Amino acid sequence: MEEIFLKIEKAKNTAELEEIRILVLGKKGSLTAKFAELKNCEASVKKTLAKELNTLKMDFERALANKKEWLSMQELEEKIKQEKIDVSLFNTSNLRGASHPIMLMLDKIVGYFESMNFAVKMGPLVEDDFHNFEALNIPSYHPARDMQDTFYFKDNKLLRTHTSPVQIHTMESQKPPIRMICPGNVFRCDYDLTHTPMFHQVEGLVVEEGKDFVSFANLKFILEDFLKYIFGEVKVRFRSSFFPFTEPSAEVDMSCIFCRGKGCRVCSHTGWLEVLGCGSVDDNVFKAVGYENVSGYAFGLGVERFAMLAFNVPDLRSFFESDLRILEQFK
Ligand code: PHE
Repeated sequence: MEEIFLKIEKAKNTAELEEIRILVLGKKGSLTAKFAELKNCEASVKKTLAKELNTLKMDFERALANKKEWLSMQELEEKIKQEKIDVSLFNTSNLRGASHPIMLMLDKIVGYFESMNFAVKMGPLVEDDFHNFEALNIPSYHPARDMQDTFYFKDNKLLRTHTSPVQIHTMESQKPPIRMICPGNVFRCDYDLTHTPMFHQVEGLVVEEGKDFVSFANLKFILEDFLKYIFGEVKVRFRSSFFPFTEPSAEVDMSCIFCRGKGCRVCSHTGWLEVLGCGSVDDNVFKAVGYENVSGYAFGLGVERFAMLAFNVPDLRSFFESDLRILEQFK
């Protein structure tokens, strides 16, 4: 047994220890054999021998356990020595995220209209032809369809080109009065300095019962107030325009926030920036949803354009390139 204890002492790893254990206490182990011989012994020796064997077994097991603990500590120390901790490594736990500039602007826009008692409505991104075009007074033959480069699927389905279909869904499911905005992303097949195939819009709709209840003056008031809330003191003008779903229609310009109307590169030296489309809701739209004897106004804007102007970002595409050097400036 002496040499066994010596072996334990010399063992270099836990695998060697296990070999020793099997040698002694395994099925064919030396100590196991001695225990087996006990039954052939005479009763007088049996008791003392059994006691001796048990003590031996306990000593052996203790020696094994001690050595095992020592070895595993040794192994751990070795492992720690080999694993270098690179303290110069960048620590990410202190990185704080921030809202994307588009979301910052979206929140600000939505915040304004919520404070003016507008409900916020959402709708599907995949629409049918009826909700995206037909119900908005844009029949299939109408040249106005070319204004919006549409991504089409099969079976009359398409990616919505504006959030106006949410207004149609809302009017289909509830009666006036309606006072809502619909923020969300929209899709058009277009890509350059000022266009990306996906962008964000906020459109608004107000409908009341009665032919003359909602007037263009109401629309003018709210949009002027809204633009001043977002951009500060600006002059606002309404320019007559055309949209199939509104009549009369207007485009809204505000005085250039960079040159204060004097004329610069951003406003193409006109002193004005075009920021909104709007108008009184066309009767054909009300007809499409089964409304009668109502009046209303609608407006729409591109969130990216607002963010570009408010944060002075010259290239729209930089909003979508996930460049942290740009995004971090909006913390
Ligand atoms: N739906 C229009 C667009 O996507 C925006 C708009 C809405 C214009 C309401 C006028 C009135 O271009």
